[in-house]
Amino acid sequence: MIIGEETVRRHLSIEDGIKCVEDTWRWYGEGKVVMPNKITTDMSELGVPGWFNSMPAYIGPTDTAGIKVVGGYEGNRALGLPFIKANVLVTDSRTGILRALVSGDYINDLRTGCQPAVMAKVLAAKTDVVTIIGTGRMAYFSLLCMSKVLEMKEIRLADISEEAMDRFIARFSDAPFTFVKCASNEEACRGSDVVITITNANADLVEEPWLKKGSLVMTMGSFRETSFDVVRKADKIAVDQVGQSLHRGNLKELAEMGEITADSFDIVVPEVLAGKMKGRTDPDDRIYAQIIGTGMLDVAFAGLVLQKIEESGEEVFRFDMTK
Ligand SMILES: NC(=O)c1ccc[n+]([C@@H]2O[C@H](COP(=O)([O-])OP(=O)(O)OC[C@H]3O[C@@H](n4cnc5c(N)ncnc54)[C@H](O)[C@@H]3O)[C@@H](O)[C@H]2O)c1
Repeated sequence: MIIGEETVRRHLSIEDGIKCVEDTWRWYGEGKVVMPNKITTDMSELGVPGWFNSMPAYIGPTDTAGIKVVGGYEGNRALGLPFIKANVLVTDSRTGILRALVSGDYINDLRTGCQPAVMAKVLAAKTDVVTIIGTGRMAYFSLLCMSKVLEMKEIRLADISEEAMDRFIARFSDAPFTFVKCASNEEACRGSDVVITITNANADLVEEPWLKKGSLVMTMGSFRETSFDVVRKADKIAVDQVGQSLHRGNLKELAEMGEITADSFDIVVPEVLAGKMKGRTDPDDRIYAQIIGTGMLDVAFAGLVLQKIEESGEEVFRFDMTK
C-alpha cells in the first residue's frame, strides 16, 4: 500500500493519537517494543544541505515492524515545503515484505503534539496556567492535543517572533482558555504550572529562579532550551526514553559533561505507565522533563493507520513489489 497525507489525516484522530502514545509508551515500559537508538546521516559533509534520521521500531502488541526516515532539508522552505520531511516504511514482521509506505508528516506532527499531552497528564500537579515558549508548528500540535485531555485556563506565549504568536493564537479562535502574549520569558514562566519549550533555539530560554514549586517544565526542542540549573535543581528529572535523552536536546551538554547519566532519571514515563516506577509523588516537586521523541511512536501511528484502513475497507493504492 502507498498511503498519502490526506488518507493518513482522514484515519488518525487526535484522540486515537493520544491513546496510541499512551499505549506505545506503556508497551515500551513493559518490554514489548524493540527500538534501537536513531542514527543520523548528515549529508552536509558532502555539500548537501540536509540530514536524515533512521528510526526503526517493532511494536509487539500490534505486530508492527517499521522504520521512520525523517530529515531536515535546508532548501525546502524556499520551495514552499516544510523543513522537516518524514516517511514511514512498514514491513511484514515475519517475511520482511513491504506492507506499506506511509507519508509521515502528519504522523510526525500529531505524535509530537500528543507527547506533552500524555506527559502532562502523568506528571503535572496543576495545568491551570501553561507557558509555551516557541509558537511554531510543533507548539500548535502540542496545544491542540493538550486541549483534548487537560483543563487549562491561561496559555502564556513567548516567541522571538510576534507574528508567530499572532498566527498561533488565530488558530485557536474558539478555545476555552485565554492567551497572554508575554514580553519576556521570565514574565511567561513566573507562577506558571507547566512550561513547555519547543523552539529551534540553542539558548537558556528558561531560568531556574522563575519556576514555582510544583511546576513541570517540558523541553521538546532539539538543542539547549534551559539553563543547566533548571535540570540541576529540579526535584525530579523525567524523560520519555533514556538512551536518546543522553545524546540530544536540552540534556546533551550536561550528559557530555558527565553530570547526567542513565542513572540520573528519577522518572521514565513509559515505566510509570507500565506501573514499574512512580511518577509525581509530591505536589510541590519541581519536575524537569525532556521529551526527545522516539521512532516507536511513528511506527505505531503508521500501524494504526493501516489497521483503520483495513477496518474501513477503503481502497488504497497497491503495488506488487515482485513485478
Ligand atoms: N521532541 C520531539 O518529539 C520533536 C518532534 C519534532 C520536532 N522537534 C523539534 O522541535 C523544535 C521546533 O520545531 P517546529 O517544527 O515547531 O519549528 P518552527 O520553526 O515551526 O517553530 C519554532 C518556533 O520557535 C521560535 N523561536 C526560535 N528561537 C526562539 C527563541 N530564542 N525564543 C523563543 N522562540 C524562539 C521561532 O520563532 C518559531 O516560532 C525543533 O527543534 C525540532 O527539531 C521535536
